[in-house]
Order: sequence, then C-alpha cells, then structure tokens
Amino acid sequence: MSKIATLEIDGNKYEFPIIEGTEKELGIDIKTLRGATGGVTTIDPGYKNTGSCESGITFLDGEKGILRYRGYSIEELAEKADFLEVAYLLIFGELPTKVELEKFDSDIKEESHVDEDMKKILDGFPKSAHPMGVLSSLTSALIAFNPGSVDVDSEEEMYNAIVKILAKFPVLAAWTMRKRKSLPLDYGDNSLGYVENLHKMMFARPNKAYEPNKLVYDALDKLLILHADHEQNCSTSTVRIVGSSHAGLFASLSAGMSALWGPLHGGANQAVIEMLEAIKADGGDTAKYIAKAKDKSDPFRLMGFGHRVYKNFDPRANIIKKSAEEVLGDLGIEDPVLDIAKGLAKVALEDEYFVKRKLYPNVDFYSGIIYRALGIPTEMFTVMFALGRLPGWIAQWKEMRLRKEPIGRPRQIYVGENYRPFVKVENR
Ligand code: CMC
Repeated sequence: MSKIATLEIDGNKYEFPIIEGTEKELGIDIKTLRGATGGVTTIDPGYKNTGSCESGITFLDGEKGILRYRGYSIEELAEKADFLEVAYLLIFGELPTKVELEKFDSDIKEESHVDEDMKKILDGFPKSAHPMGVLSSLTSALIAFNPGSVDVDSEEEMYNAIVKILAKFPVLAAWTMRKRKSLPLDYGDNSLGYVENLHKMMFARPNKAYEPNKLVYDALDKLLILHADHEQNCSTSTVRIVGSSHAGLFASLSAGMSALWGPLHGGANQAVIEMLEAIKADGGDTAKYIAKAKDKSDPFRLMGFGHRVYKNFDPRANIIKKSAEEVLGDLGIEDPVLDIAKGLAKVALEDEYFVKRKLYPNVDFYSGIIYRALGIPTEMFTVMFALGRLPGWIAQWKEMRLRKEPIGRPRQIYVGENYRPFVKVENR
C-alpha cells in the first residue's frame, strides 16, 4: 500500500503521497502543496532536505558509504572499467558492447578537431587566468562555432552534441594548461585512447619524444571514473537548472563548471594541496590546524573534510588514498605532503569535534597528491575534476531534458520591507 504524509496547518489537514525509490528511499511528493494550502511553501536553504528530481543515474547512500553508477559499484568500476566505458554507461544507461564502444570511441575521435579561431579566444586571456575560468569561457565559446539548438527529441542530434563535447573538451582543457606554460597548442593523437590522448595533449613537448606510461594512464583513468558522477551536487544541479530553461548543452556545462570551481565543491582539491603546503611551511604542526578548524571564530576549515551526504566515509576517498600510496610508490616519489595529509586525517578522525559532526576525508583530500605526482600543476586540479565529471553532467542534462522537467524556479519567503512610499532624493 502506498504511504501518505499528513501535514496540519491551523487545524487543516493535507495529505501528500510518499514516493519510494528503487533503493527504498522515501520522498514526500509536495507538488500540490501550494495549490492545496493556498500558497504555503517549504523553506530549505542549501536544499539539505529537498529532492529536485527523480533520477536513474547514480545511487548514493551517505550512511553506508555506497556509490553506484547505473547500479554498478564505484569500487568495481574503478577496478575493472575504463573511463570511456563509464562515460557511455552514465550517458546511455548500459555498459556498451564491444561494437558500441568502438563506435563511440571512433565518433569522438572524428569530432576531436577544435576550430583554429578558438585559439584567438584563448589568446585573449592573460596567462595568469585561472584555468577553470578559461575552460568555462571556452566551453561557452564553442556554441558560436557549433550554432543551432539540439532537438532533444532527435536521438541523432543528442548523440552528435554529446560526442562533440566529449571530443573537444579534453582539447580545450589541455590548451588551457599549455597556454599557461607557453607550449604550442595541438590536437593530440587519434591513434591513442581517450585518457592516453588527454595526457599526451597536456604533456607532449615539441622538442622531446613523448613517452607513454601505462601506470600514469591507469591512475588518471581511475581518477576520472571516480569523479564521473555524484548525483545532485552543486555543479550537477546547476547544469540541470540551467538546462531546464532549454539553454543548450554547452551553455549548461559552462555554468556547471563555474559552480564546480568554488572551494567548497571541486575547487577543494586545489585548496587541499595549498592547505597542506601551508601546514608544511609552518613546521607541519597538524594539531594547530585542527584547533583552527574547530575554532568557530576562525574562518579556517579543514579542506577536503566533510560532505553534505557522506556521513560515514566517502568511498571515493578510500580508493584514492590507496591509489595515492601505490602511484607514489610505483613512481618512486616521496611527498612529505602525503605524510602531513595522513597525520591530519588521523588526528581529525579521533577528534570529538570531527567524530560528532561525522566529518571524514572526502574525494578531494587525496586526489591532489596523485595529480601532483603525475606532474599536473595545482591550478589544473579542478580542471581534472571537470574532465571526469563531464559525462555525469551530460547524463544528467540528457535525463532532465528527456523527462521534460519544468523550468527550475525555487520559491522564497520574503523577509524585506513592507510597502513604503517613494521619497524623492532631495527629501531623503
Ligand atoms: N572543517 C571544519 N568544520 C567543518 C568542516 C570542515 N571541513 N565541514 C563542516 N564543518 C562543520 C561546520 O562548521 C558545522 O559545524 P556546526 O554544526 O558546529 O555549525 C558542521 O560541521 C556541519 O557543516 P555544514 O557546513 O553545515 O555542512 P554542509 O553539508 O553544508 O557542507 C561541505 C558540506 C563539504 C561544504 C563542508 O563540509 C566543507 O566546507 N568542507 C570543506 C570543503 C570541501 O572539502 N569540499 C569538497 C566536498 S567533496 C567534493 C565535492 O563536492 O566537490
């Protein structure tokens, strides 16, 4: 029997259906609330208790530390799949057959050219510009070179737009890094796989033979998979809400990138390394920084700690921590910052403040350490996150459009001035 929630306001009772997800999650369906109650609304800053949609893409259980894409566990995907397979899975709902995967790969390669005029736009940015701002702008600029809106009822048009952005985004990401380093811009090598090509586009030098490194590719592949989707987080919700106005895919993705950039979201990976470096430069006194994080009069937060949904552990952080140790070991790198990170995590995990608030290391806590070991500059860390999250954003945008969701438009409770008459400037 279906469940019902009853709400009582001033003695009047209202009933709302409770919907149940495939993992037994319950949600009170308040679609009729305002109509039934004559305009009563809900208030939930930060949407801590509000579901914005029904989605079949990613399942997350924050208490049990479960993360699954389309039903497959993140642990298994990180271990056994490659990034392109995961991208296909997220976007189209099923793991691709060998033939489907080969076609997907070759269709992406076919679109890997970026208009030469895009280089002029890139050239307009100062070298000091943050890569996330540049990449978001370039993604938006792509619209001018690929005009025309996508007919979402046409599977072919949807597919073409998806393939286009998956192909061009890594080129743009690599260009943002190369521009900062004054390296020539190129288009990579279509004989390579998606991740290998990305690496080559970022690191190939004009005067030096490029050396492939399977270990590096595998680490990168795993990191991209771990970041590929995370249900209705800040950037994904941004992509969905912007897309809900029927703005195009590229415009919605560009907005998502701006949301990801913030230090409370994807920008945390850069902030973590900067924090760990600062602690190292300050003598490595982790206790001092734990005390700062606990001090309510100090704005300092332990970056890479805490999560809106995970209240036990972040399964991605567990995989990344292990991977960071392996990558550093295999590459023969000793990074004192990893020791500081481990020390900080140990103290925090035993500290009552963090235990009580269920604050654990999140995905960003260790990822920067691997990126650093792979030679990726700190300011590019959030770009790496965006490269991984791209298929998730696409999948969520596609789902939202195909479900014909209404335009996103939250309500508010007005707490400003009541009506007052206008006063002319000379009388104020
Ligand atoms: N350091 C110190 N205290 C913290 C931290 C932290 N990193 N995170 C949360 N708290 C405290 C917070 O002060 C509050 O304490 P009290 O109850 O006494 O007021 C309590 O824990 C709950 O925090 P909140 O800010 O209400 O929780 P939230 O769900 O709104 O925020 C968060 C989640 C991830 C924004 C937050 O934990 C945070 O700012 N963490 C640091 C930034 C970070 O690592 N972000 C990456 C998130 S994972 C990847 C991603 O989403 O991109």
